[in-house]
Amino acid sequence: MGLEATSESGGPRKSPLAGPLLPINRARLASPLKCDYRATMKAKIVLLPGDGVGPEVTGQARIVLEAVARGAGHEFSFETQLIGGIAIDETGEPLPPDTLVACKAADAIMLGAVGGPKWDDPNAKTRPEKGLLAIRKGLGLFANLRPVRSYPELIDSSPLKLERIQGCNMLILRELTGGLYFGKQYREQTERGLKVIDTLEYMDFEIERIVRLAFELARGRTKKLTSVDKANVLESSRVWRQVATQVKADFADVTLEHQLVDSCAMRLVTAPTSFDVIVTENMFGDILSDEAAVLTGSLGMLPSASLGEGKLGLYEPIHGSAPDIAGKGIANPVGTILSAALLLRHSLGLEAEAASIERAVELALAAGARTKDLGSNNPLSTSGMGEAILAKLN
Ligand code: IPM
Ligand code: MN
Repeated sequence: MGLEATSESGGPRKSPLAGPLLPINRARLASPLKCDYRATMKAKIVLLPGDGVGPEVTGQARIVLEAVARGAGHEFSFETQLIGGIAIDETGEPLPPDTLVACKAADAIMLGAVGGPKWDDPNAKTRPEKGLLAIRKGLGLFANLRPVRSYPELIDSSPLKLERIQGCNMLILRELTGGLYFGKQYREQTERGLKVIDTLEYMDFEIERIVRLAFELARGRTKKLTSVDKANVLESSRVWRQVATQVKADFADVTLEHQLVDSCAMRLVTAPTSFDVIVTENMFGDILSDEAAVLTGSLGMLPSASLGEGKLGLYEPIHGSAPDIAGKGIANPVGTILSAALLLRHSLGLEAEAASIERAVELALAAGARTKDLGSNNPLSTSGMGEAILAKLN
């Protein structure tokens, strides 16, 4: 199969590898918008608390965003909408049309988590997770940035050896609207039994836009990109590798290495500091980013930003709904609060404010603030952790 493609109108179109074609606002992604910190702004933020611990952690992120707005003179308005299991309970659908309409009209979206045992029946008509996939697709959010770093204060919270994780700082860029998550999927009764199909599909331009963004992000960091695939087995990975190699021609200053996903999984825990930017397929990125959370000490620490071609982005912690601890007020809100920092940086262009949240998190950790997942004997509650971070916000 070639890399030539046909346009949606049916006529031939130039291969996406032939030259610049992406309308994406790359400058914004690679280096945050420059902003005058004295300027004030109005922004509409949609909150999608979702299920499980979602409402608890988004509640803390909202308080932090409100404090930032007060401090800098911005006006943020918040509107809460339904998604996930709670949306199924209330409307029958995991992504009600009103939610999508509100999100499209917003400047940014802050999401908690979706899913839980209540909606896990394998024969159910729909699932909470479908709402999350539909909003990612519906808003064209194809790029999921998952920064992973080790915090000196939390080094003991990781089960890995100190010398392995010290100084670790990487960015996992997960493709978010294609691949195994969005290919054809069905069950079929056959004479020999039940047949079940999942499909890993990509268009070449979908690979190109995420890989190109990865090169741009790598250019703004240490200029080292690892493209992760399974090219020894999967056809889609062979094209992925081919596309990545061709895009490299436009980035002479960035080194590109290809790595198979299985050995990447091992290298993530044996030599994590050898990575800077990793770019990979949707499901590989889902799995590798949970693994990478071990480097930070807890899944509860990791933020993410899902971005598309415009400024609108969806910000969420990478952890799930944690139904086992939901409602107990013990979930770690840091991943969500750090996601709020990414929201300020990537959707609102408020770099100074974003950095002030990140600094407040570091200072709170340095002062000993810990939730239960971070291995403390005397842990703070979700709101206690939020307050500890607020207290360090300047
Ligand atoms: C994530 C989550 C989701 C995903 C689930 C809840 C659908 O695990 O954001 O990593 O698999 O993308
Ligand atoms: Mn996941």
